[in-house]
Amino acid sequence: MSEYLPGLEGVPATRSNISFIDGEKGILAYRGYPIEQLAAHSNFEETTLLLLDGQLPSSDELEQFDSQLRRNRRVKYNIREMMKHLPKNGHPMEMLQTALASLGMFYPSNECMVGSDLCEDLDYIHNMTVKIIARMPVIVTMWAHIRSGYDPVEPRPDLSYAENFLYMYTGAEPDPELARILDTCLILHAEHTINASTFAALVAGSTLASPYGVIAAAIGTLSGPLHGGANEKVVHMLHEIGSPENVSRWLDRKLASKEKIWGMGHREYKVKDPRATILQGLMEKLAESRGGRVSPLLETALALEDAAEARLGPKGVYANVDFYSGILYAEMGIRTDQFTPIFAVARAAGWLAHWREQLADNRIFRPTQVYTGETGREFVPIDQR
Ligand code: COA
Repeated sequence: MSEYLPGLEGVPATRSNISFIDGEKGILAYRGYPIEQLAAHSNFEETTLLLLDGQLPSSDELEQFDSQLRRNRRVKYNIREMMKHLPKNGHPMEMLQTALASLGMFYPSNECMVGSDLCEDLDYIHNMTVKIIARMPVIVTMWAHIRSGYDPVEPRPDLSYAENFLYMYTGAEPDPELARILDTCLILHAEHTINASTFAALVAGSTLASPYGVIAAAIGTLSGPLHGGANEKVVHMLHEIGSPENVSRWLDRKLASKEKIWGMGHREYKVKDPRATILQGLMEKLAESRGGRVSPLLETALALEDAAEARLGPKGVYANVDFYSGILYAEMGIRTDQFTPIFAVARAAGWLAHWREQLADNRIFRPTQVYTGETGREFVPIDQR
C-alpha cells in the first residue's frame, strides 16, 4: 500500500502542460511564458486563449475570441430574477456558485455528453468556455447592484473584459489605470497548477459532469479562507492592525497564539510568491501616480510583510498572491466580500483549460483511503444501546 500523505502534499494528481511553478526560485509560467512577461505585455483575453490553446494567439484569433466574449455578456433575465430572490446578505461566493450552477438549467449543455464524442469536441469545449468566461464577471457585477435593491448595469460590448467589469460594477466610465491594474490582477490569478479548486474541477470534470457543474465545484472550493478567501481576510486583518506602529505587537500576539497571518505562506512557494511581487509593484505605482493618496492599508501591509518575513521567513512562509490583491481591489471601490469572486472570474480560465486537458485523456478520479475505523461489529437493536 502506498504511503498516505496528508493534503496529498507532493503527490502528482495529473500530468499537465498548462502551468509550471518552481517554488524554490519563485518562478511561475503559463505554457512556458514567465508570469512577469504576461503581466507586462498581455491582457486577460489573450492570456486565457494561451491557457486554453497552449499558444499565443495570432491577432485574428485573439480578435475572434474577444468578440465572442463581448457577444456573450448578456445573461437571460430569468437568471437576474433568480438572483433577486437570493438573500441580500449572502456571501457573493455562494451567490456565484448558485448562479453558475443555475446556468446549467438555463443553457443546458451536456445532455448527451456521456457516450458521445462531445468530450473530445473542441468546438463544444470552446463554446462552453466562452459562455462561462464571458458571463462570470457579468454575474459578479450584477450582484453588486441587485443586493442593494437596484437593477444591474447593462454590459457594454465596446469595452474590454476588465473595463466592462469596472463599468458594470461602478456604473461609471472605467478609469484606464485601474482597468489596466484589474486586467493584470486577472492575468496573475488565471492559473496556478493543481491547487485545491483546480483539483476539484478536475475531479468533477472526470465524471463528465457539465462544465457548469465543474465550475460550481471549483467556486465552492475556492471560497475557503485557506484558498481564495484569504484576500478578504487580509484586508480585515490590516484594518484590525490599524497602523504600521501596531504591527510588531499585533504579530507577536498572533504568532504566540499560533494564529495564521492571512496572505502569507503557500504550499508551493518557499520564497515570496512572484505574483505578490508584481501586485506590490502595481500598488506602489498607483500610490506614486496618485501622489501618495491611496489607502493607509498599504503602509500597514508593507510593515507587516517586513516584520513577518523576519519571523516566518525561516519556515519558508512569505507573502502570497492574496497579500496585496485585496488592497488593490479596495482602491477600485470594490467591496471586500467581492474580492474572492474576482479571483474566481480570473481562475475560471485555468479551471477550463484543465477541464479541456482532462477530457482529452479522461479517467474518472477514484483515489483510495487508509481505513482507520472499526471492523466486525455486531449491530445492536436501538432499545439495547
Ligand atoms: N501564518 C503563520 N504561520 C504560518 C502561515 C501563516 N499564514 N502559513 C504557514 N505557517 C507555518 C505553519 O504554522 C507551520 O509552522 P510549524 O511547522 O511550526 O507548525 C509551517 O508554517 C508550515 O505550514 P503548513 O500549514 O504546514 O503549510 P501548508 O502548506 O499546509 O499550508 C497554506 C499552506 C497556504 C494553507 C498556509 O500557509 C496558510 O494557511 N496561509 C494563510 C492563508 C492564505 O493566505 N491562503 C492563500 C494561499 S494563496
